[in-house]
Amino acid sequence: MQLRAVAMEEGKDAIAIKANQSNSRVLPLRVLQFFVLFLFVSLGFSVVSMYAVKYFNVQGRILVPVAESNIRPCFEESSRLSSWIRPPSNLLHTMNDSELFWRASFMPRIKNYPFKRKPKIAFMFLTKGPLPLAPLWERFFKGNEDKYSIYIHSHPSYHADFPPKSVFHQRQIPSQVAEWGMMSMCDAERRLLANALLDMSNEWFVLLSESCIPLQNFSVIYLYLLRSRYSFVGSFDEDGPYGRGRYDENMAPEVNLTQWRKGAQWFEVNRKLALDIVVDTKYHPKFRDFCRPACYVDEHYFPTMLAIQSPHLLANRTLTWVDWSRGGAHPATFGKADITEEFFKKKINERSTCFYNNQPSSLCFLFARKFAPSALEPLLDLASKVFGF
Ligand SMILES: *[C@@H]1O[C@H](CO)[C@@H](O)[C@H](O)[C@H]1NC(C)=O
Ligand SMILES: *[C@@H]1O[C@H](CO)[C@@H](O)[C@H](O)[C@H]1NC(C)=O
Ligand SMILES: *[C@@H]1O[C@H](CO)[C@@H](O)[C@H](O)[C@H]1NC(C)=O
Ligand SMILES: *[C@@H]1O[C@H](CO)[C@@H](O)[C@H](O)[C@H]1NC(C)=O
Repeated sequence: MQLRAVAMEEGKDAIAIKANQSNSRVLPLRVLQFFVLFLFVSLGFSVVSMYAVKYFNVQGRILVPVAESNIRPCFEESSRLSSWIRPPSNLLHTMNDSELFWRASFMPRIKNYPFKRKPKIAFMFLTKGPLPLAPLWERFFKGNEDKYSIYIHSHPSYHADFPPKSVFHQRQIPSQVAEWGMMSMCDAERRLLANALLDMSNEWFVLLSESCIPLQNFSVIYLYLLRSRYSFVGSFDEDGPYGRGRYDENMAPEVNLTQWRKGAQWFEVNRKLALDIVVDTKYHPKFRDFCRPACYVDEHYFPTMLAIQSPHLLANRTLTWVDWSRGGAHPATFGKADITEEFFKKKINERSTCFYNNQPSSLCFLFARKFAPSALEPLLDLASKVFGF
């Protein structure tokens, strides 16, 4: 039995080998036939297409689109309009200030956009480190995703770790040390503006600190800026040691004493003025060299420069409420115990009158400072009732 089985196995093998042999003899012949046929077809096709190209002169029309569709992914960056209007995906670029400011100074000269542009507010946070009031801002921004962008300039040694679902996640820009009252502070503000200018949709630029809060809901603030004829930069002529007293004659002829202005650091400017600030090389050296403490350059540089260049575009008042009534070099900071409904009704809203588009108005402030981290909890409790968000 075993022997038979072996023989059968061998027989099987023998048949298999035989079949293989006959296959290997048949295959080359078939391959050859196929190959020759292919050769003829190819030859015929290339002759026909050569004639077609010559006859119809369609070289450009046929060959180029084919080449383009193969190569396109490499060139997409610059070949489509969307690549020019898309905001940078990564805020942590490697440009230094000269490179960044130059890049930010690009400006379209055709006024009408050939696409649907939804103007956005750029919220620019100038901070030392953390944003203790972030949960309040998160609530404020919710539901308005297509109408704002956020930029944060903090101390370069600070590493933010906002979770991916936070509106502040990866919104940090490359930063440098900013010292209070020094030009480095204005340079940080210009850096924020330049980064925000890279997004073509940003139309209004609001400077805020970590102690600022919004006093109205997003729609009220958006419409207030949208409908305003002026930018909200504090800019006034003040007598005395804290105003004209800080002027240095070395600033002439670029800046005369009568042109000298003072205003709060916290501003709102439109795109045109943001660009003017970033491209300035005329006033910057004068203020850098001749406005040093006790001249606080962040209170004079932009208010003076903009009042000289574009007085007709300025509301000459700030949107950020602050309380100087306690006196001293710094305004009052409010904590947990201060935050009540009364506080916002009485202290901020009832007392204010101002001009909005040359008409008297009682809505003068959209933001307020300074609020301590301990104020967060009561602020969240009051937000829907008092601020409307
Ligand atoms: C930025 O880099 C360029 C090229 O290296 C250099 O010429 C320029 O001085 C730098 N600017 C600043 C502000 O560091
Ligand atoms: C500034 O004042 C000087 C002399 O007082 C005058 O010559 C110059 O025109 C003034 N400049 C401006 C811009 O007003
Ligand atoms: C702001 O002040 C400038 C002078 O610095 C003036 O020309 C301008 O009309 C003022 N703006 C408003 C809205 O009053
Ligand atoms: C925002 O606040 C205004 C006035 O307080 C209110 O009329 C409006 O309904 C609020 N909008 C939203 C979206 O909550």
